[in-house]
Amino acid sequence: MSEPTVSLRHLLGLEGVSAQDIQVLLETGFSFREVLERPIKKVPTLTGISVVNLFFEGSTRTRISFELAEKRLSADVTNFSAGASSLSKGEGLKDTIQNIHAMKMDAVVMRHPVPGSTWQLSQFVDAVVINAGDGTHEHPTQGLLDMMSLQEKFGRLKGLKVGIIGDIAHSRVARSNIFGLITMGAEVTVCGPGHLIPPYIGELGVAVNGDIDEVLTWADAVNVLRIQRERMADGIIPSVREYRSRFGITNERLARHRKEVVILHPGPMNRGVEIDSDVADGDQAVILDQVLNGVAVRMSVLFHLLGPRESEGEPPLHPEEET
Ligand code: CP
Repeated sequence: MSEPTVSLRHLLGLEGVSAQDIQVLLETGFSFREVLERPIKKVPTLTGISVVNLFFEGSTRTRISFELAEKRLSADVTNFSAGASSLSKGEGLKDTIQNIHAMKMDAVVMRHPVPGSTWQLSQFVDAVVINAGDGTHEHPTQGLLDMMSLQEKFGRLKGLKVGIIGDIAHSRVARSNIFGLITMGAEVTVCGPGHLIPPYIGELGVAVNGDIDEVLTWADAVNVLRIQRERMADGIIPSVREYRSRFGITNERLARHRKEVVILHPGPMNRGVEIDSDVADGDQAVILDQVLNGVAVRMSVLFHLLGPRESEGEPPLHPEEET
C-alpha cells in the first residue's frame, strides 16, 4: 500500500488546507514522535536535500525546532539570520532570495515580519517554501503542533471546544489555529480586549466572548497567546496589571471552574502577565508537549513536501522504517 500524501506544494498557511491534508500531516507527526523516542532519533529520508532556514525576525522555538527536524531527517541544513547577512548592507529581500535560489536550495523555511512575504517568496523560487511565521498573517506549523497536542490529549479534534485568549488581531498563531481547528470540526471561541478582536473574525466561523470566566467554563482547552509587550509602546495594551486581572490565566481563576481545562501556550511566555508560572508549570499545561510535537510535526511537513516521490523512482521512506 502506498503512503498517504498531501496535495500541497508549499506550506504558506492553513487557510484553505483540506481536512484530509491536515489529518495526514498530524498522523505522520505521531509516527515521527515515535522516532524521537528512540535512542537514535534520525532517519535518512531527506539525504541529499538542501534546506535553508531564513529568519528575518527573532525566534527560539520555531528556528531550533525546524533545524532539529531537518537534521533528524538527514537534510543538509543552512541557517541564515538577517542580522548577520548583507541585508544590513542594504540588500533587498528579492536579491537575497535570488541568490539563495541560485544556490539551488530544495526548500526554504522563512520567518519574516511582513504578512504575505512567504507567498511572495514562493513566486520567486522553485524551492518548496514553508512559512515559519509571516507578520500577523499565519504560522501554520504552530497551528499544526497545537492541533497535534490537542489530538494527543483528547484523541479527537472534531467537536472539541477551544478558547483562544489574547490579542487576536495581531496574532498569526490565532489565525492558523482558527483555520486549522475549524477545518477539523472543532468549535472555537476567541476572547480578549474588544479592540484586539478583529471585526471580520466571525466570518472565520468562530464565536467571540469577552468574559474569560465564561470561556473557561465552556472550553475543553484554551490556547493562551503571548501579550506582545512591544505593542505596549503603541498604547494597544495600556496596563499589564489590568490585562492580567481581566484575562490572565491564574490558578485562582482556574480553581473557580469545576472541570480541568487543558492549557496551551505557543511561547515565548510572559509569566505573571497572560499566564502565571504555577499554571504554566502545572499539570493542566501541555506547553512542553507542544514543543516536542513541534519537532515531530515539522518533520512530517518536510517529509511530505520534500520526501522522494514514487513517480521519481524511489518510494518514500516511512518514518517507522528502521535506518
Ligand atoms: N511559538 C513561536 O513561534 O515561538 P518563537 O517565536 O520562539 O519561534
